[in-house]
Amino acid sequence: MDRKQFIKKFEHHFSGEPRVFCAPGRVNLIGEHTDYNDGYVFPMAIGFYTTVAVFPTRDRKLYIRSENMHELIAIDLDANAEKRHHWSDYVAGMAHVLEKEGIRLPGASMLIESDVPVGAGLSSSAALEMSSGLALLSTVGGELTGEKLALLGQKAENQFVGMNCGIMDQFISMHGKENHALFLDCRTLDYELVPLPAENIRIVICNTMVKHELGSSEYNKRRAECEKGVEILRADYPGIRALRDVSLSQFQKVQHKLPDVVQKRCRHVISEDERALESIAALQAGDIEKFGQLMNASHDSLRDDYEVSCLELDLLVEVARYQEGCLGARMTGGGFGGCTVNLVASDKVDVFVDAVGEAYQRATNLKSDIYISVPSRGAHEMR
Ligand code: GLA
Repeated sequence: MDRKQFIKKFEHHFSGEPRVFCAPGRVNLIGEHTDYNDGYVFPMAIGFYTTVAVFPTRDRKLYIRSENMHELIAIDLDANAEKRHHWSDYVAGMAHVLEKEGIRLPGASMLIESDVPVGAGLSSSAALEMSSGLALLSTVGGELTGEKLALLGQKAENQFVGMNCGIMDQFISMHGKENHALFLDCRTLDYELVPLPAENIRIVICNTMVKHELGSSEYNKRRAECEKGVEILRADYPGIRALRDVSLSQFQKVQHKLPDVVQKRCRHVISEDERALESIAALQAGDIEKFGQLMNASHDSLRDDYEVSCLELDLLVEVARYQEGCLGARMTGGGFGGCTVNLVASDKVDVFVDAVGEAYQRATNLKSDIYISVPSRGAHEMR
């Protein structure tokens, strides 16, 4: 996004000299459905951004124009905040949680444009929350730490939008760094930026182009099943607070006490935490093959134990694994559609993209959007 051109667009619709903020989407390399179990995740920010130009007004109203939707929405900050089942909920939600923190907003004109694919599981909503959060904060000359803003974004989503998500998406959107993925402990929020070997490896994202409706209801159901698991496991391990506190060998000793479905859900989360830890060790030891194998195992566990994959994701993973130079392939994000993430040898990437696209289209009649992605910078003001 060219900042000057974007400001011109803003001036076409509103008055004032705006400041401009942007925040990226993300792809998660490994550690799936672990964030709300206090576990580990390893996402990176991708080069798709939501951009917000903002200028304060003094009337306690937000005038929010989306370039993508060609829509102008007005929100009265003094009226009861209400969800509209609309893209503007993410902005209204941010305003709502900021005000609840005691930050009184003056009102603002906002122009929003995004190239983060929507409904693809690449966190277009976190990108919108974080970019509009920074924009709203700027109208009071305020600043918050990245961690605090990420937590507020999660709160907006949990309490306002009604999606019980974890902290991963907002956190990586704030903290992403060029050429690095981010290893996050979702309990302590301690993180480490880990360089990815950019020369011989490419991260390729393949979009199934489908989004099955059961996504968010199943998501909340999985959370509840994990909590049930913790409750039962506590009989044997009284100290535990979350699945993160149970090792795989501890789990295996008592797993027969859990109902079948709960057992499968817990096995996924507990083994996924171990895989995430192992994958960082592998990467740091320069063992990229091992990293790829762990990605494969992650997908299989999400498909068989957590049951959040779908036909299209499984197919896209299958055809990817079949290609020469593919070191690992798995679904990424919440599941039930969206994207796969693939670790591909640089010199094989062109053939990979063509072959996977073709095979997927032949099988489904859908044309997959495929992105070769580099780890990108997190949310920031464009100057
Ligand atoms: C969604 C949620 C995240 C995380 C992933 C699954 O993207 O927003 O918090 O739980 O699903 O890993």
